[in-house]
Amino acid sequence: MEFSHIPIMLNECLEGLAIRPDGLYLDGTAGGAGHSREIAKRLEGGRLYAMDQDPDAIEAATARLSGLPATVIQGNFRNAKALLTQRGVDHLDGALLDLGVSSHQLDDRERGFSYLGDAPLDMRMSQSGPTAADLVNSLDRDALARILREYGEEPYAWQVAGKIVTARAKAPIATTGQLAEIVAAAMPPAVRRKDKNPARRSFQAIRIAVNGELDALSEGLDGIFDLLAPGGRFCIITFHSLEDRLVKQRFRRWCTACTCPPEFPVCVCGGVAKAKQITHKPLQADGREQQENRRSRSAKLRIIEKL
Ligand SMILES: C[S@@+](CC[C@H](N)C(=O)[O-])C[C@H]1O[C@@H](n2cnc3c(N)ncnc32)[C@H](O)[C@@H]1O
Repeated sequence: MEFSHIPIMLNECLEGLAIRPDGLYLDGTAGGAGHSREIAKRLEGGRLYAMDQDPDAIEAATARLSGLPATVIQGNFRNAKALLTQRGVDHLDGALLDLGVSSHQLDDRERGFSYLGDAPLDMRMSQSGPTAADLVNSLDRDALARILREYGEEPYAWQVAGKIVTARAKAPIATTGQLAEIVAAAMPPAVRRKDKNPARRSFQAIRIAVNGELDALSEGLDGIFDLLAPGGRFCIITFHSLEDRLVKQRFRRWCTACTCPPEFPVCVCGGVAKAKQITHKPLQADGREQQENRRSRSAKLRIIEKL
């Protein structure tokens, strides 16, 4: 299957990275190398490290970056610092994360990310480790409901978890189609009529849990920020509120000098900011891009510069 994914806010990312031709850059979510290729094309003497945990993305990125000053690395960006230092990279001049799944992963029904169609219930970006089927067939109702509520903001989390537990008592849940039907059946009929895709929130939640996305992001942020040299830019595109909140709070912490409690009349901590905000409010795709690429509608780009 051809790897297709339109890079989101490409120009904003390229400008945001303030690329120096001789610099070292990381794209921690290379996917189909949409952003990576444009970054690598602007380098002369510098190098791009294009990382992804998905073997399909690695294959596509390797082909699209051939002949350019780029090194493709299969791995999770939560380990970016170790993976790069192993290769002798002791600093970065900029890093990009374009989070979540690619259109390719969603469209390739066999990967089991989509609630449309029927395929094995997989959802693993890395194609290794426990699958979504393992998760929904093993966790108890409380744990399932927590995942659905926290990662999917699913208002019927407890009911959906209950339906999952009842259904799997008869036979293990094996496909995306089965799961989508179980989720829909947990909704009151009025909600089901109004919401065209009642399984959307649950699928997002289970995908986040299967891939440990928020823990990976939290660890990846720290490791990558450590490697950034002064003046290095960190650009991150998020697609849902939990990711965006994590990035916003971490960026704010790095950009805040004083960490004294607000009731202290004068600063006693002597804290020094480690970064400055380049985007005070997150950037969003312009109207045209939103028209042309539905996925860009929920995208938010935040940028900081290390001091
Ligand atoms: C939205 S796509 C990136 C698309 C890419 N920017 C492009 O223009 O083609 C996200 C990619 O990040 C990868 N990914 C998500 N989380 C990751 C992680 N923690 N470590 C490594 N890769 C990750 C996914 O496998 C997917 O290929």
